[in-house]
Amino acid sequence: MSLDSFFVQMLIFFMKIAITGKGGVGKTTLSAVLSHLYASEGRRVLAVDADPDANLAQAFGLSAEQIRDLKPISELTDLITERTGARPGSMGGVFRLNPKVDDIPEGYGKRLNGITLIVIGKTKEASSGCYCPENVFLRRLLRHLVVERDEVVIVDMEAGIEHLTRGTAEGVDALLVVVEPGQRSLQTAHTVKGMAETMGVKRVFVVANKVRGDEDLRYIEENLEDMRLLGRISYNPAIMEADMKGEAPYQSCPETVEEVRRIKEALEEAR
Ligand SMILES: Nc1ncnc2c1ncn2[C@@H]1O[C@H](COP(=O)(O)OP(=O)(O)OP(=O)(O)O)[C@@H](O)[C@H]1O
Ligand SMILES: [Mg+2]
Repeated sequence: MSLDSFFVQMLIFFMKIAITGKGGVGKTTLSAVLSHLYASEGRRVLAVDADPDANLAQAFGLSAEQIRDLKPISELTDLITERTGARPGSMGGVFRLNPKVDDIPEGYGKRLNGITLIVIGKTKEASSGCYCPENVFLRRLLRHLVVERDEVVIVDMEAGIEHLTRGTAEGVDALLVVVEPGQRSLQTAHTVKGMAETMGVKRVFVVANKVRGDEDLRYIEENLEDMRLLGRISYNPAIMEADMKGEAPYQSCPETVEEVRRIKEALEEAR
């Protein structure tokens, strides 16, 4: 194997994928199914719920009790105090800028089949760049997860990427922006793409979700402008039913899993 293809293999092997898009477009569904698909190949997967309105655990089919036990990292006040040397909520004091974070996934994540799920939780004024122990800690953690882990990392984010620092954004191998047929999610995608470029994200792709037929797909294609479409996920009532029952779409929606498998393959082939 040439050195070049060796590095390409390593890139695919330790792929760092961030998923964003307008509210309700299907970010969490895609994050969960993709995580399962990588894990089914025997790879170690870290699934990171970075949406303040966290619900990735539900898409893995965890029970209400398991979800209750899975504390968001942002709520672990004692841990943040111990690691940064300052209590969350305190301002202006002295604290460590490079706290230890590499044991967080193992220590505070939830182990599923080949997947470790970690929930970041709400960050106070994260986008305002508040310079306080909890934000420094959570940003350092996110950077560690995206830049320093030897495993597949999938980050389920909110709409927009403003809470990523430049160093973290540069570590993302692929940013997937989910859209649905309609102007609003496409508008969000264009905004996110512009932001991603200025932050140094190398590759941005669009995933079309809730596609009811070729006409929907054509609508999305006609409105992509300079964005690249990676693939489509059809509208599937079974996904909503899984959501209502608290089941994992990976278990109960085989057609959708197949479509996401094709998206994963397209991602691995895309340059
Ligand atoms: N392909 C699909 N077909 C039908 N329903 C879907 C599809 N994808 C997602 N849904 C439904 O749309 C809703 C939103 O999906 P999901 O939670 O994955 O989106 P999200 O972008 O993560 O939302 P949020 O912004 O609230 O975090 C859910 O009820 C889900 O079941
Ligand atoms: Mg979500």
